[in-house]
Amino acid sequence: MSKGIFITIEGGDGAGKTTLISRLNEQIYIHAQQRTVPTREPGGSPIAEAIRSVILDRKNTRMDPRTEALLYAAARRQHLMEIVKPAIESKKIVICDRFVDSSLAYQGYARGLGMDEVWEINRFATDGYMPDVTLYLDIDPVVAMSRIHANSSREVNRLDLEKIDFHQKVREGYLQVAARFPNRIFVLDASQTPEALALEAWKIIEAKLSLKGS
Ligand code: TYD
Repeated sequence: MSKGIFITIEGGDGAGKTTLISRLNEQIYIHAQQRTVPTREPGGSPIAEAIRSVILDRKNTRMDPRTEALLYAAARRQHLMEIVKPAIESKKIVICDRFVDSSLAYQGYARGLGMDEVWEINRFATDGYMPDVTLYLDIDPVVAMSRIHANSSREVNRLDLEKIDFHQKVREGYLQVAARFPNRIFVLDASQTPEALALEAWKIIEAKLSLKGS
């Protein structure tokens, strides 16, 4: 492998990204003997985590949608330069919880800023640096929210408080993004059992790893 692999996991709140990521880390270790670099957005580095706390602060109810989109892009840039790119260049497998597609679905579509506009600021932020593969965990938001509330230990943030129709829009947005990037984004049914989901995800990653290795 001349470079590492950049994998991103996407999905609405409560789709099961965290569980899937920890299972994928295990699978990659067992089958490919490689420790991954697990990371997340917004955040993943000290400066990006500081931006995250501004974005997700429940007191910031007056945040303008474009301000929010720019802050996500700023956090993304910092995390990309500080964590993701150096890891990929030293042949690591990076698994990132959310990336550009989150901004396209949440800010571009659900908040109505427009996917093309949000893509433009993200193109500037990332210099067009995109994942090798993205797994989008697709689930009905009603099912996803019931999962979130069943798990009381999870931090409830400002965005969790948004109404279910916002999450329906996020889902529509993601499906449009997936249709735009069919070679990169795999749509997985996240209502299946965590075991079945992890197996399906592993098959996709396994194929990517063997392609890179050859
Ligand atoms: P987080 O607590 O990390 O949620 P999750 O566990 O669902 O990933 O909060 C991240 C929130 O930020 C989540 O509601 C999605 C939102 N978000 C955007 O709106 N745009 C973005 O570009 C990113 C990265 C996240």
